[in-house]
Amino acid sequence: MTPKLEISAVTKDYAPLRGGLAVRALDNVAFSVSEGEFVSLLGPSGCGKSTLLMLIAGFERTSRGHISVDGREVTAPGADRGLVFQDYALFPWKSLIENVMYGPLKRGLPRRTCEEIARRYIDLVGISGFENHYPHQLSGGMRQRCALARSVANDPAVLLMDEPLAAIDALTRNTLQEEILRVCDARDGRPRKTVIYVTHSIDEAVFLSDRIVLMSPRPGRVFDIIDVDLPSPRTDATRQHPEFHALTKRIWESLKIYAKPE
Ligand SMILES: Nc1ncnc2c1ncn2[C@@H]1O[C@H](COP(=O)(O)OP(=O)(O)O)[C@@H](O)[C@H]1O
Ligand SMILES: [Mg+2]
Repeated sequence: MTPKLEISAVTKDYAPLRGGLAVRALDNVAFSVSEGEFVSLLGPSGCGKSTLLMLIAGFERTSRGHISVDGREVTAPGADRGLVFQDYALFPWKSLIENVMYGPLKRGLPRRTCEEIARRYIDLVGISGFENHYPHQLSGGMRQRCALARSVANDPAVLLMDEPLAAIDALTRNTLQEEILRVCDARDGRPRKTVIYVTHSIDEAVFLSDRIVLMSPRPGRVFDIIDVDLPSPRTDATRQHPEFHALTKRIWESLKIYAKPE
């Protein structure tokens, strides 16, 4: 079966800035992801996680190697891939519902339909009642829920998330992790979303993922891929599961050489 997403021997060099040296951000990265799989990229700052997402999204081109979605090579951004960023990237001058409607409107759907879609996803992420609020009137957690709704309202087959919860307080973060999984579930006859999730939190990667790709920096390489065999659905009880602790410990052991001294 063709994987949903295939990363084949991808190397990415950034051109030197003002006489400096070229940066090899990724070196010979390869792995594939099946439909409906939740895969996290985990590693220290600078290991190329964001670069890999930008390549999959089609905003950057590989220097060597290929990336394909459903067997078709990625050459540009497309509606089959949706992005969620850490800093929400909402339009500050649009209300919450206008932010969520933006994608469907751009696809040329009638306004009424877009509004229905937006209300459905706003409800799904738990922020109904705030449709007419503007981003600055919302908490960080609510803004991130809005950003999530805006991405899934476009119904991308592949969802790319770059540290979406990094700026969220710890208590809200746990709740939002569960919400992300729920939003990505199969619904309305559509399959579960395929997700590539960037984080530098070990707990978060273990809680969310089916598999975790461990990366090391300079140049960014994949040095291990770990299967997470925790029961679904993931709930608060998951965080007490012996396997949860065993995995977080094992991953910490292999990443701690990259921890920065205080
Ligand atoms: N646009 C760019 N131009 C030059 N170098 C870049 C650019 N983006 C990232 N880099 C470099 O590539 C490496 C990987 O960066 P990045 O993908 O942001 O890592 P991560 O998201 O894991 O922190 C870093 O050394 C970074 O400085
Ligand atoms: Mg990054």
